[in-house]
Amino acid sequence: MSTALVILAAGKGTRMNSDQPKVLHQIAGAPMLVHAMRSAEALEPSRTIVVAGHGLVDVQAAVADYAPDVEVVEQAEQKGTAHAVDAAREALAGFQGDVIVLFGDTPFVRAETLQNMVAARADHAVVVLGFEAADPGKYGRLIMNGDQLDAIVEFADASDEERAVTFCNSGVMLSEKSALFEMIDAIEAENAQEEYYLTDVVSIARSRGLSVTAVACDESETLGINSRAHLAQAEAIFQTRARTELMDMGVTLQQPETVMLSFDTVIGRDTVIEPNVFFGPDVTIESGVHIRAFSHLEGCHVSRGAVVGPYARLRPGAELAEDVRIGNFVEVKNAALDTGAKVNHLSYIGDATVGAATNIGAGTITCNYDGVMKHQTTIGANAFIGSNTMLVAPVSVGNNAMTGSGSVITKDVDANALAIARAAQVNKLGLASKLFELLKMKKKNRYQEAK
Ligand code: UD1
Ligand code: MG
Repeated sequence: MSTALVILAAGKGTRMNSDQPKVLHQIAGAPMLVHAMRSAEALEPSRTIVVAGHGLVDVQAAVADYAPDVEVVEQAEQKGTAHAVDAAREALAGFQGDVIVLFGDTPFVRAETLQNMVAARADHAVVVLGFEAADPGKYGRLIMNGDQLDAIVEFADASDEERAVTFCNSGVMLSEKSALFEMIDAIEAENAQEEYYLTDVVSIARSRGLSVTAVACDESETLGINSRAHLAQAEAIFQTRARTELMDMGVTLQQPETVMLSFDTVIGRDTVIEPNVFFGPDVTIESGVHIRAFSHLEGCHVSRGAVVGPYARLRPGAELAEDVRIGNFVEVKNAALDTGAKVNHLSYIGDATVGAATNIGAGTITCNYDGVMKHQTTIGANAFIGSNTMLVAPVSVGNNAMTGSGSVITKDVDANALAIARAAQVNKLGLASKLFELLKMKKKNRYQEAK
């Protein structure tokens, strides 16, 4: 059966105290909304619809960025979760199958949990995801009757007896589309909050003699993010899960709690990550790589056998082939380094290609920016760039060429050539001691004048 995913994300998120809509706040480099979408990927939804209201334009832009196939519909006024699902009705007009409703601010429901819900759907018309709450607070309470879920009672409407229930509603609900929208039609806003509660679907289904059940998951999966403190908690939950997954897949994290990963970080087996390494979005690291301490990587690819850091920075477009060495205080941006190339100390390589086995000396800089435009530097294979060379782009250095230390290279260097572009040295015999005498004399005179 095909499934459509409806993500509710129209709420304001007042407690975030932010100009940004809540669902766009990031966890591990991606909006929490994107995490919610990804959690449902395992169900292979044939349609995904995001219901947005506050910050609609920003939500649309973010969705276009991360998931261009996903449709955003507007819920102009927020009249409750049933009203929000109703906003997706038109967009789902041609769709037949099940609808699963997720909240955009509840991003960590596991794929296995959603699959458990799908399995339960075989025997029940409506399946709700619940959890045992350590502190049930204001969550909706699940009123069970054997394996049947009779009702969800919102905290504001609950009796003392109902408030004592600790099995709570996560907000995730699964049902057949036509039946669901028909039941939504029957929902009224006659409750303490004067809202159209999606949760009322449960009692309506039961009154029609339909079977409704709740599947349980761990409370950590249902963490709803309402404040910056929750956001930090969510980040910690994500990081812990992602680090554990990597280690299970054969990656060594010497001090896992100091390594920050992104939602999409890919790292191969037998790669070693030293402490305090930060992975921004879009990083892929092959097997057998060594990332040394305090390195910062984003938008880059590192091939087998490469060693990066300590204190290296790989920015978007850094592409390291096998066995490349990037050492301390080296920044690489939009540059491809071929097999075995080395940039070991204090360099900036930007908008460049570097051939195989080329050695870039300490302090080398590709001067890629003229203040208005960016320009390319092309360095061949087996070349040797002397320390402190300034490569003023656009410029190229051929295979097997060399540049003298301290050169400012403004013209292309042919293959096999040695380029030296610096003032010639002059040695004046004895002049150093004379100069010292003169300077000492000056200092003494000045001291006496002062007295
Ligand atoms: C809801 C559930 C409650 C559950 C809790 C879990 C209802 C009536 N209550 O309560 O049983 O325990 O979540 O966190 O469903 N939204 C819209 N449009 C609206 C209203 C809400 O898009 O008009 C979105 C919000 O952006 C949010 C989600 O729906 O992503 C949940 O809304 P929220 O107001 O947080 O519901 P709760 O009161 O927390
Ligand atoms: Mg909520």
